[in-house]
Amino acid sequence: MNGWERTSTSHGGFVVRKSEDPVDMIILNSRCTHLGCTVNWKGDAQAFVCPCHDGKFGADGKVLGGPPPRPLDRFTDFRVTQDGILEIFYKAA
Ligand code: FES
Repeated sequence: MNGWERTSTSHGGFVVRKSEDPVDMIILNSRCTHLGCTVNWKGDAQAFVCPCHDGKFGADGKVLGGPPPRPLDRFTDFRVTQDGILEIFYKAA
C-alpha cells in the first residue's frame, strides 16, 4: 500500500488486542480521518502513520499529531465465533 492509491472504496482495519482475553479488542478502520488515505503501523514510532500528510494515531486510534480532526474510526459491531473466526459487520459508505 502507499499513500497515492485510491482508498475511498477500500475497507481495511487493524485488530488491537487489549488483553489476553480473545474478545477484548478494538478494531480500527485503517482509513485516515483527515482525507482518507490508508494508515500503516510503524513499530519504531509506536503509531499508525498516514503517508499523505504525516498524521499520527496511537495504538488506541487517538490522534497524536498532524492534521486528522478526530481519532481513527472503530468497527464496533463484531463477534468471535466458536471456531475463533472474527466476524466484523459494517455498512459500506
Ligand atoms: S490523509 Fe491522513 S493526514 Fe491527511
